[in-house]
Amino acid sequence: MSQKKGIILSGMRPTGQLHIGHLSVLENWALLQQDYQCFYMVADWHALTSDYDDTSRLDGFRQTMLLDWLAAGLDPQQSSIFIQSHVKAHAELTLLLGMNVPLPWLERVPTYKDQIEQLGKQGKDINTYGFLGYPLLMAADILVYRANLVPVGEDQGAHLEFSRELVRRFHHLYNTEIFPEPQPKYAKIASLPGIDGRKMSKSYHNDIALSATTAEITEKVRNMVTDPARIKKTDPGHPEVCVVYKYHTIYNEAAVPEIQEACRQGQIGCVECKKRLAAIIDAKLAPIRERRETFAQNPGLLAEVIAEGDAKANRQAEATMALVRKAMNI
Ligand code: TRP
Ligand code: SF4
Repeated sequence: MSQKKGIILSGMRPTGQLHIGHLSVLENWALLQQDYQCFYMVADWHALTSDYDDTSRLDGFRQTMLLDWLAAGLDPQQSSIFIQSHVKAHAELTLLLGMNVPLPWLERVPTYKDQIEQLGKQGKDINTYGFLGYPLLMAADILVYRANLVPVGEDQGAHLEFSRELVRRFHHLYNTEIFPEPQPKYAKIASLPGIDGRKMSKSYHNDIALSATTAEITEKVRNMVTDPARIKKTDPGHPEVCVVYKYHTIYNEAAVPEIQEACRQGQIGCVECKKRLAAIIDAKLAPIRERRETFAQNPGLLAEVIAEGDAKANRQAEATMALVRKAMNI
């Protein structure tokens, strides 16, 4: 462990099954495992910041996401894979940091007012203490492991900046140097549209699940939006407006020049083009599906992974909390 380059923490809120749009994020997490000591967390407390009123599906969501993670190649031998609510130190650090975080710092996080408004339109009231504290809890998640790097999407940049400001304030107030200033680690993430061309999201029903069967993949690809100008196979096509083509550029790079040419010349039909894509996606997801099955059939194994991940996370978090309590005389 000592020869690793640093500590990484990241997490996702458990909101149901992951889709292939998440795959490049998880592949990136998996890659980082070799070089860093990684903590990967199921952020179930964060799920409550907006979904506090119906928690009935949380158990299933946690389980599903863990299966997806392990299937995609997160390795419990190398990383600590754990559940946020099983490591109480996150809550303690959130409380202690909450004593000194200036309220305006939380109120000016760009997503704050924006989300209240967006979700308000959908009839959801998140004008709560918990939602205001979202970035604070996230900062505690990171700082409690003294993480150096946080692989996140660019939409989380402001949250990371907030964490660094908190670190500087904490060090200044208590005359200490406990935390590294956590840096975001942005990866090249392939941005996949949903099968209808909109943003991929389970709630739009336009996603392809990471655990999709061959039949489900075939069906989703069959329903992908193509160039509307193509009615007959011989009609010249415009691949740049076609969702199927976009997927070929990501999963079937080698064949792209040929497909592009054949589409423009009206030499390949959309049915055939889709069949080829479905086969490629299926080949990509098949090993993931198999690994998922291994874990799904063995609930004892999954429980073990979590127990071990929780224990490793708790050890590191408690070591940090000892330093924090000492610095704050608490
Ligand atoms: N906010 C992140 C998301 O919605 C999830 C998350 C919670 C997280 N705590 C974190 C990510 C700490 C990175 C580090 O995706
Ligand atoms: Fe899209 Fe392929 Fe049809 Fe061209 S041939 S419009 S790339 S599905």
